[in-house]
Amino acid sequence: MNTNVPTDSTHRFHESATAQVQGRASYIDDLPLVEGTLHAAPLKSPLANAQLIAMDLEAVLAAPGVVGTVTAQDIPGDPLLATFVHDEPIFAGPQLMHLGQVMGLVLGHSHTQARQAARHMRLQTTQEPPLLHAREALQAGSFVLPKVTVQRGDAAQALAQAPHRLEGTLEIGGQEHFYLESQIAYAIPQDNGHWLIHSGTQHPGEVQHWVAHALHIPLSQVRVVCRRMGGGFGGKETQAGHLAVWAALAAHKFGRPVKMRLDRGDDILITGKRHPFSHDWQVGFDPRGRVLGLDSVQLVHCGHSADLSGPVADRAIFHTDNAYFLSDLHITSHRCKTHTQSHTAFRGFGGPQGVLLIETVMSDIARHLGLDALDVRLANLYGVGERDTTPYGMKVEDNILHPLMTQLAERCDYRARRRTISDWNAQHSVLKKGLALTPVKFGISFTATQFNQAGAVVSVYTDGSVRVNHSGTEMGQGLHTKVCGLVAHVLGLPAAQVQASASDTDQVANASATAASSGTDLNGRAAENAALQVRHNIATCIAKLDACSVEAVRFEGGQVITPPRQRSFTEAVQYAYGQRVQLWSDGFYATPKIHYDRTTLTGRPFYYFAYGAACSEVAIDTLTGEYRVLRTDILHDVGHSLHPEIDIGQIEGGFAQGLGWLTTEELVWNAKGELLTKGASTYKIPTAADMPAQLNIELWHEANREDTVGGSKAVGEPPFMLAISVFEALRDAIGATHPGHAPIRLDTPATPERVLGAILHRI
Ligand code: MTE
Ligand code: MOS
Repeated sequence: MNTNVPTDSTHRFHESATAQVQGRASYIDDLPLVEGTLHAAPLKSPLANAQLIAMDLEAVLAAPGVVGTVTAQDIPGDPLLATFVHDEPIFAGPQLMHLGQVMGLVLGHSHTQARQAARHMRLQTTQEPPLLHAREALQAGSFVLPKVTVQRGDAAQALAQAPHRLEGTLEIGGQEHFYLESQIAYAIPQDNGHWLIHSGTQHPGEVQHWVAHALHIPLSQVRVVCRRMGGGFGGKETQAGHLAVWAALAAHKFGRPVKMRLDRGDDILITGKRHPFSHDWQVGFDPRGRVLGLDSVQLVHCGHSADLSGPVADRAIFHTDNAYFLSDLHITSHRCKTHTQSHTAFRGFGGPQGVLLIETVMSDIARHLGLDALDVRLANLYGVGERDTTPYGMKVEDNILHPLMTQLAERCDYRARRRTISDWNAQHSVLKKGLALTPVKFGISFTATQFNQAGAVVSVYTDGSVRVNHSGTEMGQGLHTKVCGLVAHVLGLPAAQVQASASDTDQVANASATAASSGTDLNGRAAENAALQVRHNIATCIAKLDACSVEAVRFEGGQVITPPRQRSFTEAVQYAYGQRVQLWSDGFYATPKIHYDRTTLTGRPFYYFAYGAACSEVAIDTLTGEYRVLRTDILHDVGHSLHPEIDIGQIEGGFAQGLGWLTTEELVWNAKGELLTKGASTYKIPTAADMPAQLNIELWHEANREDTVGGSKAVGEPPFMLAISVFEALRDAIGATHPGHAPIRLDTPATPERVLGAILHRI
């Protein structure tokens, strides 16, 4: 339908940008405190894998400013969180599963007093050695969920008959979300046993469910509100719910409002991260580098509970093909239980861990055969009309991989630069350069089909101002900006006339998480549907007045235009109000075409695919392992862009975050299971200085071939995987240090130490 959203109905800036740069955008910690508010701090397990014998809180209670404590006995409802797998206690005990796990709360008059008092907890425990790695968990038979096996064709036979074979291992590190605003919740008791919860959450509907479950009250008595988050990145999809439940339980016990905010160190220690993966693989291929058979064993490091590990591990399986047709394939996915934080959603949701595997295999094949990795990648791409069905049985109908990759290769002069770099490497012995061009194909939709629905309410007031409320949440990604633009377009108004209000479970019921990059696809369409209904109501009444057909009424440039006359939108609205016409409406959307069988992992889990490709050039210092990213060129598919500035911002941000995951961000646990990298001083997120010296981003100009809002495509997660081009360029440069055909062993993050190790390994 609206494949051309003109720029006058698009906010030029992100709807919060001005307030954010002026420090006036309010976050939950900025809300004025309600009289009597108490502050909660966590009581944390000092051990991983221990049995609790006794907990002594006397000294905690005696500390200055302390009002009381909250433990498992204070839970009126189920002591387990209402998670999908239902395996996670609200407060740890008697089994202490990870160092930092929350066992209870201290309530104080101030945040600082509560935190200081928490240090006085004394415990009696018995202790056992923790399982800290997925490989240890596999050995010990420790799992959060049963293993999943997926196969197509006969991988074993294809491997046995293949003219070439390789095998290898890839250890992929986790990643801390490092959102700027740490986790927070503020629970305020209302009259009649009702609750208002301010929660920094990507999923208000689930927070509502968890709180109601813990308090043992109907969902209708819990209202969850979130105006914006200071970043979520998947880390506030489930993890925000814990804080909301804790704050609500404390507020319930003391009958007072309770705010709980985690300091950075506690946030990193307590909450789950991106899943580390251990991959063991075997590949068979022909002399052109075409994959004939792939066997992949994926060990997923889930932490102490399931959380979202099932669907994350599934999405890794769904993206092990990335852009490539794999005829004969066998994947075994083990969901390993360890004594660490419970790992959770993080941009890409397991997809990146699958894509990285196949991309490293592609270049190892090329190195083995002495071919250019780009040629091996092109030879393996999904075809059009043949070789076009994924291992899970979905036809890739919208394949633009070949034109997109070849166009990028031309624009960035890949072939000529490849020759220049070879010559350069031949002349330089200490510094070596590397180049890689990698694609991404990312499936859009929640794999759990029922989540692919959304609602919205559009309200037009008598002064002509418009408010939209929808089931999505704003975490910086620009969802509200895009939704306002879409509503403004339908009503023919300048974007500034449409305002979004806070996500609120009282306004739209049963909202799905804002996740899987589908925020705009779902909520944009729901809001558009609501706006169309309001427009229809106004048009019907004006058509009657001007004696024309409803279809003849146009909404443009802030005017309502009929063949006989033209009036301002406000005038039309005021007239319609006088005629007792409904000036607000709800709207709903459910993604069509998708279906998926959870037991066989087959069907059409995705409505469509988002594509992209990146080419990166790096230089490494072979004496120290240090490196620089010299240049990255990106060509990315967002369909018809609803807001090019925001989309390019998402591509830059996703790429930077992927770069951090693959190069600088390292989580280190000691042998006792203590996470040592608890702050910016020890955990290095990428800075502007780590970005490529030259970064060129272009958008692929073609509308989505599926019917989506404005012809757009989801953009939140797919660009994260463009950073794999940097990792592959590093491996290319390592390969240039010494001749050889063996796979390059480089785990992530590829810190200078690891790059140096990989060079030495090659000798
Ligand atoms: N961009 C910003 N600035 N902040 C965020 O927290 N989260 C990412 C992505 N982009 C995030 C972001 C993740 S993990 C997802 S799933 C999508 O945004 C969610 O929003 P969308 O569906 O509206 O794109
Ligand atoms: Mo994004 S990981 O789906 O919140």
